[in-house]
Amino acid sequence: MAKSIDEIRDRALREIESASDEETIHALSVKYLGRKGQVTLFLRTLAELPAEERPAAGKAANQAKHLIREALDRAAERIAASREKDDAIDVSLPGRPVRRGTLHPVTRITGIICEIFGRMGFEVVEGPEIETDYYNFEALNIPREHPARDMQDTFYISDNVVLRTHTSPTQPRVMEQRTPPLRIIAPGKVYRCDSDVTHTPMFHQVEGLMVDRKVSFGDLKGVLTAFVHRMFDDQTSLRFRPSYFPFTEPSAEVDIRCVACRGRGCRICSNTGWLEILGAGMVHPAVFEKVGYDTAKYTGFAFGMGVERIAMLKYNIDDTRKFFENDIRFLGQF
Ligand code: DAH
Repeated sequence: MAKSIDEIRDRALREIESASDEETIHALSVKYLGRKGQVTLFLRTLAELPAEERPAAGKAANQAKHLIREALDRAAERIAASREKDDAIDVSLPGRPVRRGTLHPVTRITGIICEIFGRMGFEVVEGPEIETDYYNFEALNIPREHPARDMQDTFYISDNVVLRTHTSPTQPRVMEQRTPPLRIIAPGKVYRCDSDVTHTPMFHQVEGLMVDRKVSFGDLKGVLTAFVHRMFDDQTSLRFRPSYFPFTEPSAEVDIRCVACRGRGCRICSNTGWLEILGAGMVHPAVFEKVGYDTAKYTGFAFGMGVERIAMLKYNIDDTRKFFENDIRFLGQF
């Protein structure tokens, strides 16, 4: 007998221990337990042993066979487990892209509006969305039974508290706190009980107010023209149409040349060639009196625009409800 069964067993166990792939395991299985494997051959030599040595040697050989089989099984499991782990993290793969968010178009346009007026010296301020009847109406020269209250379908929280229907209440709020000169811009959410293709119950406005000595309608036209030229382009002309708001006198609605057809007439401008973008006017003396400003000393202009309206014209969007459906395929385009 060339080698003792103990030697064969120990060597087999060592080799199996250091095996690191399935092929090696298979080869070791053949080498020791196969038809011509070392353990198998050893068992065959038992017959040549003297009769009294056979039982002990046979037992040792069978035990060795058993141990080697177990070691092979364990090694196979170890190799399979480590392969799974390798599969879990393939460091050579490109990483999963992190989806970047985008600003909501309303946020973008609000930012652009504030930036344009900011360059003209207007400071951004904000007022509350839950507003008192006083600031939303009374201080803006809209008394309780005034028909102008019907212009805006108000959400009432209580008799004297409303969801603000416009950003105009920031005007008296700021004027109460400060003395002229002042130039402010006030962006924010406003609410009206109204819902269709062109109206949502919540939307956004930006209010503007400038008060100083000798502020004229010419200043208003200059500031708004500069704004439109920056917001759209400097070929976009404006027109001021006489209008009515209780808190301005005179009042105007401002149109721009249709950005889609350049004035030739199309579906977007209802064939008029013009698009209304905002309301404006010279601050009514009654509004100044409420906040204690000397109307002999100061004049001012104010304006208010709808942000969704500007965004729709800028980005060619036809339904304002799209802004609030939270479809990221739509929102991600801006
Ligand atoms: N507050 C008005 C509205 O929501 C818009 C407006 C018109 C604001 C004229 C003004 C203004 O400041 O002067 O319809």
